[in-house]
Amino acid sequence: MTKKRLVSGQKENQAEADEEQTLRPQFLDQYIGQTKLKHELRVYIKAAKQRHESLDHVLLYGPPGLGKTTLAMVIAHEMQVDIKTTSGPAIEKPGDLVALLNELKPGDILFIDEIHRLPKVVEEMLYSAMEDFYVDIVVGQGPTAHPVHFPLPPFTLIGATTRAGLLSAPLRDRFGIVEHMRYYNVDDLTTIVKRSANIFHSSIKDEGAVEIARRSRGTPRIANRLLRRVRDFAQVSHHSAIDVPVVNYTLKLLGIDEEGLDRTDIKLLKTMIKYYNGGPVGLNTIAANIGEETDTISEMYEPYLLQKGFLKRTPRGREVTKKAYQHLGIKSKLD
Ligand SMILES: Nc1ncnc2c1ncn2[C@@H]1O[C@H](COP(=O)(O)OP(=O)(O)O)[C@@H](O)[C@H]1O
Ligand SMILES: [Mg+2]
Repeated sequence: MTKKRLVSGQKENQAEADEEQTLRPQFLDQYIGQTKLKHELRVYIKAAKQRHESLDHVLLYGPPGLGKTTLAMVIAHEMQVDIKTTSGPAIEKPGDLVALLNELKPGDILFIDEIHRLPKVVEEMLYSAMEDFYVDIVVGQGPTAHPVHFPLPPFTLIGATTRAGLLSAPLRDRFGIVEHMRYYNVDDLTTIVKRSANIFHSSIKDEGAVEIARRSRGTPRIANRLLRRVRDFAQVSHHSAIDVPVVNYTLKLLGIDEEGLDRTDIKLLKTMIKYYNGGPVGLNTIAANIGEETDTISEMYEPYLLQKGFLKRTPRGREVTKKAYQHLGIKSKLD
């Protein structure tokens, strides 16, 4: 079990999921940031529409909360087709997949979230579906069982995963369009925060939006989440607008520092410094020391710390950087 974490890219609960729905951009023009990816997609979408063909299969990979599901919806809007949404673990057997494919109209999109978690038998059935738009299924039981060749309408599969490396090579190779979602910069996150505040009818100062953006770990889901918390504080403390003081006040209470690090990030860095002289130290050792699972560290904590340059990977393990010492106000052996 992983602990609930305010600055995790993962969805917190159903209420958050519902609210996210209202914040989702509908078209590429409203989709902020990811410039290179948007540019490429615009070309592919335009070309497919001109040829009256279905869009090539799309694989989106990147950390949680960066906008993969949102982008799948946006692509459906842009292509003017319907989209069916499911997830890897939800498709338990080949029959489940056939049922989903059977409902698609020509050009429609099937979105499979967490596609790396598809059962192997289902994945193998997808190969022919993706490549030649058919599946071979066995109908009937016992002596009457016989194979049936089941043609499918041309469709687009959009798969999402947190890491492309989790996918088998044969599956990965069947995606014509493979896009890596990147962490957002502060400017883009500021725009996202302002847009969301606008949808919530909350007034926000520019500097307040920048401050939330700076502390959101490059992740729109976290930016929107922090905005909601700050909005609550602003409201109960009768602030007329979300400004820097109310952001600072709220995030301090929530234990999120100026760089967006939470208490566990800090604990991780400080443990490495205190007990291992800043490293290098192995991931398992770090995990055991702070009472988290190794996977949790490598998927939820480490990417941001690496990206911020607070941690670096070396062949002998993880090392705390000079920048991290400075941020924590601890004198470094590296000085
Ligand atoms: N590029 C973007 N522009 C505006 N909002 C975004 C963008 N990407 C993500 N969001 C917001 O962040 C939230 C999480 O995005 P989502 O697509 O669910 O992430 P993922 O599927 O990668 O976990 C959505 O509610 C959406 O409002
Ligand atoms: Mg998603």
